[in-house]
Amino acid sequence: MALELTLVGIMTLPSYFASAAGGSRKLKSIFAMKEEDTETGAASVPTDDITLKDVTFGYQETTVIDHVSVVIPKGKVTAVIGPNGSGKSTLIKLIDRLYPAEGGDLRIGEADASDVSLKAWRSQFAVVSQNTAVFAGTIRSNICYGAAEPVSEEALRRAVRLANLEEVVASRQGGLDYEVGVKGAGLSGGEQQRVAIARALLKDPQVLILDEATANLDAKTEAEVKKGLNELMKGRTVIEIAHNYAAIRDADYVVVLDQGRLADSGSPGEMEERCAFYRQMTRQI
Ligand SMILES: Nc1ncnc2c1ncn2[C@@H]1O[C@H](COP(=O)(O)OP(=O)(O)OP(=O)(O)O)[C@@H](O)[C@H]1O
Ligand SMILES: [Mg+2]
Repeated sequence: MALELTLVGIMTLPSYFASAAGGSRKLKSIFAMKEEDTETGAASVPTDDITLKDVTFGYQETTVIDHVSVVIPKGKVTAVIGPNGSGKSTLIKLIDRLYPAEGGDLRIGEADASDVSLKAWRSQFAVVSQNTAVFAGTIRSNICYGAAEPVSEEALRRAVRLANLEEVVASRQGGLDYEVGVKGAGLSGGEQQRVAIARALLKDPQVLILDEATANLDAKTEAEVKKGLNELMKGRTVIEIAHNYAAIRDADYVVVLDQGRLADSGSPGEMEERCAFYRQMTRQI
């Protein structure tokens, strides 16, 4: 009976059953998901460099991240670049432990990921991407979503100000209690992104992940979002999946991926000098 119930539980998991092929790797992922325990392990992590050593991962039988070893420096902006499908988003999902790596080590400072609870680890990361997860509800509830503790009015106002959302809030009936519709209806894309930025500011993470955060925005909107982003980036480790040359050139450090392998890593200047693949990529964008 217990087995039956467990299987029913597993069957409700999306995507993993979308394709019929069953490989050991896929089964391992399913059981890892079923058993996800967010509480066991150390309840805190130091603020430090993120180290990947020999990290390997695949969704199915194909290896998507192939023995990657790299150090992402604390408090700096690291740009991750590589062609479509080279594993940029996957690498980030391994770093914030959305997926468990199959091999290798992941550490923040001296803290090994396997010794730290998922809850504590994930509390250190916030993601701002092109697809912001704004849901039906008030602007207030959208901003406070996921906050560990009750949010004071003062903290909320500060996040709104730093995210460059004050005018948006003031222009809506009810202000922070304005009801956003399904899929963010009632807020433009750029406004939704600023809501996501305010949410991340409240979370106050050690690491900020930007995945095409300002893609598809017109110049004026991009400037409005950037203002909020710059506030959010201050004093944090930033990992940015960068698609334009300016972002890559302005980064402190670059990680170059090629078909799941680390092609090279270093400062933009070093990459320009010694990494032919980097030169080839940056000439194309
Ligand atoms: N959930 C998934 N299930 C199965 N395969 C996946 C999944 N997500 C990504 N992949 C595959 O893994 C590989 C790496 O994908 P990933 O999204 O990490 O690449 P990327 O570098 O971020 O690409 P892009 O520039 O297009 O965003 C690709 O071959 C992709 O098809
Ligand atoms: Mg991607």
